Amino acid sequence: MTIRPIRYLGDPILRKPAKKVRKVDDSIRRLVDDMIESMVAAQGVGLAAPQIGVGLRIVVLGMPEQEPLALINPTVARRSGERRLDAEGCLSVPGYRGAITRSRKVTVKALDLDGKLVRVKADDDLLAQALEHEVDHVNGVLYVDRLDSPDDLVKLDAQGWAQEPDGDAGEAGAGDSTGDDERPAGVTTAGPSTDGA
Ligand code: NI
Repeated sequence: MTIRPIRYLGDPILRKPAKKVRKVDDSIRRLVDDMIESMVAAQGVGLAAPQIGVGLRIVVLGMPEQEPLALINPTVARRSGERRLDAEGCLSVPGYRGAITRSRKVTVKALDLDGKLVRVKADDDLLAQALEHEVDHVNGVLYVDRLDSPDDLVKLDAQGWAQEPDGDAGEAGAGDSTGDDERPAGVTTAGPSTDGA
């Protein structure tokens, strides 16, 4: 297994819809091994093949305390509901977190590593978020494309905390609410985390 470098925003491969895998063979299983190792090394909870420079429709998911899961040719079969998430991140967009609206329930159809059809269902959890995030990746879409407003993107400092906006920190401005929190209004949980995907 090999840890492969992560591609960052600006690399055209992240914007190109990836190609379907025609046959799940040993070369695909070896690639999946590399993807899992690369995801773990980067402390991500998910990784799509284009993020390591491979234009194939393959994603891996690494939920906390669960075996990594590989999905070949994943598609979202069903999604329903909405929920607002405070701090989505992406290994390909380091140093940022964004508030984003995702589905509550998500069902993804894919092939497993034996080439068998599987369905993965998730409901209101990190897996639901990661499934939509990773299927977006193989379609050339990043979470920063799905922000309601550019203000929903927050730059983090070296420790992974949301930074204050430049300038008028401390002044009572529109949207100030609690007064005991120096982060921008609406950003409440962008603390250190390992939820890059
Ligand atoms: Ni990502």
